[in-house]
Amino acid sequence: MTTVDSISGKAKVAGVMGWPIGHSRSPRLHGFWLRQYGIDGAYVPLAVAPERAEQAIRALPALGFRGCNVTVPLKEIAFRTVDRLDETARRMGAVNTIVVGDDGALEGGNTDGFGFIENLRAEQPDWTAESGPAVVIGAGGAARAVVVALLDAGAPEVRLVNRTRARAEELVADLAAVGLSGGVTVVDWVSRETALDGAALLVNTTTQGMAGQPALDLPLRALPVTAVVNDIVYVPLETPLLAEARARGNPVAGGIGMLLHQARPGFKAWFGVEPQVTAELSRFVLEG
Ligand code: ATR
Repeated sequence: MTTVDSISGKAKVAGVMGWPIGHSRSPRLHGFWLRQYGIDGAYVPLAVAPERAEQAIRALPALGFRGCNVTVPLKEIAFRTVDRLDETARRMGAVNTIVVGDDGALEGGNTDGFGFIENLRAEQPDWTAESGPAVVIGAGGAARAVVVALLDAGAPEVRLVNRTRARAEELVADLAAVGLSGGVTVVDWVSRETALDGAALLVNTTTQGMAGQPALDLPLRALPVTAVVNDIVYVPLETPLLAEARARGNPVAGGIGMLLHQARPGFKAWFGVEPQVTAELSRFVLEG
């Protein structure tokens, strides 16, 4: 393995823009790959307040950036600011990856759904979207990416369950506006347990189960033991939901892989190498 200890004046530069940005694991993640592949490049945290995000994004070509990742709460601002959107970002209404094109234009993409699907495929190779109904808990930004990715991958039915029903309905209306109306049903929070009946996949996209938060309040009795259970929370790695699912025999997939896999397309576009997701990378990112 070739390594570089420092960057040169020719270094390729990218980063991650968010507010706050101090907790982002992306600099460690891309930094690991840059060192692993011996690339003369840098990936820096960019703390950008929402009111200055448009200005900061537009400055990327002038600063010579190859592009950047965008994280909360700037993904929708990035969506409105870039010059070109790929199909996935258009449908998700959010941009998490910006690439500065050869012509200096800002190209917006969204790799969150890709990361979600790639993680499931890596952790549970027997799972396919066509296997059966998917139950998605939550209706925030992460849920949006997950639902679009599941529909794109061929899920026959997505049952969307959110504490605040109106938010789930809003998500479905937004999807309908971009031509993705079929296949999603909104389920009331009080009916969440029965929504698990016959499901092939259960995904938690809420903050419940995260360190410092209560566990997701969802009895698993009705869930087939063959269903894959995925929590996109990765601190802790084994959430109460995953522990309970594992104990009753369900195949499970953790959340860190979604973060690792969503980073691949950006790294390839900015630095020219297709990076690999490994257990060593996962450990390194989680240590930070
Ligand atoms: P993100 O964009 O990262 O997905 P978010 O927009 O803050 O995050 O969404 C958080 C999700 O967790 C929402 O679906 C939220 O439900 P509400 O829309 O009802 O707020 C869900 N959530 C947060 N606290 C919850 C709780 N105590 N019980 C159930 N769901 C909860």
